[in-house]
Amino acid sequence: MRYPINPSAMPLRCRWSGRLAGALLLSAGAAQAAGPDPAARAEATLKAMTPEEKTVLTHGIMPLPIGANPPPLPAGAVPGAGYVAGIPRLGVPALTETDASLGVSYVFGLRKDGATALPSGLAQAATWNPDLVRRGGQMIGSEARAKGFNVLLAGGTNLMRDPRNGRTFEYLSEDPLLSGVLVGNAIAGIQSNAIISTIKHFALNGQETGRKFADVRISDAAARESDLLAFQIGIEIGRPGSVMCAYNQVNGEHACSSDYLLRRVLKRDWRYKGFVMSDWGAVPGLEAALNGLDQQSGAQLDPAVFFADKLAAAAKADPGYAARLDDMNRRILYAIYAAGLDRNPVTPGGKIDLAANSEVALETARQGVVLLRNEGNALPLARTAKRIAVIGGYADTGVLSGAGSSQVHGEGGAAAIVPIGGGPWAAFVSEQYHRSAPLKAIRELAPQAEVKYRDGRYVSEAVAAAKDADVAIVFATKWSTEGIDQPDLALPRGQDALIAAVAAANPRTIVVLETGNPVLMPWLGQTAAVVEAWYPGARGGEAIASVLFGETNPSGRLPITFPASLADLPRPELDGLATLETNFSGDAPTPDARLPVNYDIEGPDLGYRWNARSGRKALFPFGHGLSYTSFTATGLALRGTRATLTVANTGAREGATVAQVYLTARGSERKQRLVAFQRVNLAPGASQKLTLAIDPRLLADWHDGGWAMPGGIYTFAIGENAEQLGSPATVRLPARRWKD
Ligand code: BGC
Repeated sequence: MRYPINPSAMPLRCRWSGRLAGALLLSAGAAQAAGPDPAARAEATLKAMTPEEKTVLTHGIMPLPIGANPPPLPAGAVPGAGYVAGIPRLGVPALTETDASLGVSYVFGLRKDGATALPSGLAQAATWNPDLVRRGGQMIGSEARAKGFNVLLAGGTNLMRDPRNGRTFEYLSEDPLLSGVLVGNAIAGIQSNAIISTIKHFALNGQETGRKFADVRISDAAARESDLLAFQIGIEIGRPGSVMCAYNQVNGEHACSSDYLLRRVLKRDWRYKGFVMSDWGAVPGLEAALNGLDQQSGAQLDPAVFFADKLAAAAKADPGYAARLDDMNRRILYAIYAAGLDRNPVTPGGKIDLAANSEVALETARQGVVLLRNEGNALPLARTAKRIAVIGGYADTGVLSGAGSSQVHGEGGAAAIVPIGGGPWAAFVSEQYHRSAPLKAIRELAPQAEVKYRDGRYVSEAVAAAKDADVAIVFATKWSTEGIDQPDLALPRGQDALIAAVAAANPRTIVVLETGNPVLMPWLGQTAAVVEAWYPGARGGEAIASVLFGETNPSGRLPITFPASLADLPRPELDGLATLETNFSGDAPTPDARLPVNYDIEGPDLGYRWNARSGRKALFPFGHGLSYTSFTATGLALRGTRATLTVANTGAREGATVAQVYLTARGSERKQRLVAFQRVNLAPGASQKLTLAIDPRLLADWHDGGWAMPGGIYTFAIGENAEQLGSPATVRLPARRWKD
């Protein structure tokens, strides 16, 4: 099923009262600004190119003093992740590229101009709100444009195959539908600024350990039904100008030189018209051009600049390379014209309304906070509370963010930077806090209370403060970064012991987690409430306080499973973690090194699907999240692949819930998949009937080069979350086969 540009032809699930339609129309608006027929314009420009000009767009640099031989900075390059020269004679603009999905990044501290930090990808996904995620994309895209960038290296779509993955915080979820719909909206929002967004990292880049030589083993069917489907849906909705291929290998092929991923899946089956850019330092050799790579990014990080003179020489000698070189240009030009880069030139120094933009970050954080536990309605806190102890997590300073290429700095820089280690990557890999202190926000919401802060270094001091308070709020942090996976799911630095001791001293203990991954909670049963705030971005402290005091009714739902133990994972040991040296870049120790990673263990059944298949229960399941009001979701009925149900707010205050519909069985085969969802905001006593279209790919298997649905009875259920399922509803569907 395609997601067409014409909203009236759009599946119902995608209409969301016209909100996604708005996103698509914005993209269409940008395309109109670009002028008609980008393909014809690309063809004409290609015809006018000299042989020398044909390798200008096919390679770029990192416009930074980085790498063994940093190239001189060209005039017009903006310090950022990438720069690809333009062809002024033909009116083709240079590509000025910056990271990433959470905002315009600070580039190792080289940019001092400040940008708005959205909450982490997980926090965005926990909103289950495509419209809000699109607004986030629109906002960060507008900042990129104002800073002189016309390509945003956003659109992180890799599914969570391992909760220890250091980049989990940047990505969205473990589910292809949720990730695909959200990333598509983020991209549509970004590109509404007449700039290009990527979708990345294509594909199966599921761990950072040995990221450049991890060799993922997975069957075609399993990949198409999971990770690839997320990309496919994201591309259909967002129409990104570029796809960034990944560092890892897939079934023995480098992702950036993978005939399977780039030529067969992306360009042949999905008929993708934009261009494939490499990840930085991911190009194994010139032959990648023949295998579908169109542009070599940050080329000084690769063993050689393959896509300049070497490519020109190969094109001169070999018609195969010559044809590819034309195709590479055609694709890059198509993306430039489709986004309207030449007609809407970017110039640095544009005006940015940081205050207005931070409202988008604040709203995303508010909707993304997940209330995991709330015993005896411990939350919301009464504004009349007298004595509050706030403990740990740098809550007096700011909120944690994830590190690596996506790191954003707000105006004035980080509130605090805690170095993790030395070495060449020290500026990149450090624990950084955004300037939005929860302590200040709590004090503002409870002006009459005596609020004591203890940093949590000394358990005895924290316990004394907790004993002396009506309520203790412990902030627990777990930092994560690109380049390094986490050894386990524990909170570091003795925080588990701290929480247990505080909770023993005061039964009204609230734990606020700022994490980029799921964590274990050995102290869970002792606490009154637990709030997952993720990395909540530029205004995170305020968002947390507003949930704690009930100004915001929490509505976030987990976009990932919090496993009960490492033993429950398909790979209890993360491949390479115990044997390899921590190596931020993930470079291979020898050129032919391979780290096999077997994704066929779980195949397409990630997270909740794995638990359902193997009868396991999560610590907190996918889709879980509590509210200060109560809801019912009833009356599930199916007509073909259309589901109807009614959602009602049965409590006393306004709130939002997420209707989740799961496939639970096909015939006698038990099979769990999220097939439709919708976030709904309801006044107390109000109800809404929903009609949700189910994408048939979620009901099908990939078989013999296409999708196949067996004929028979399909069983569905409404899920409060992936484990709490309502009564079954069935429908008989005919057998069907179709191609992408
Ligand atoms: C990351 C990409 C990023 C690129 C440019 C790489 O290390 O994997 O996500 O866009 O650097 O900074």
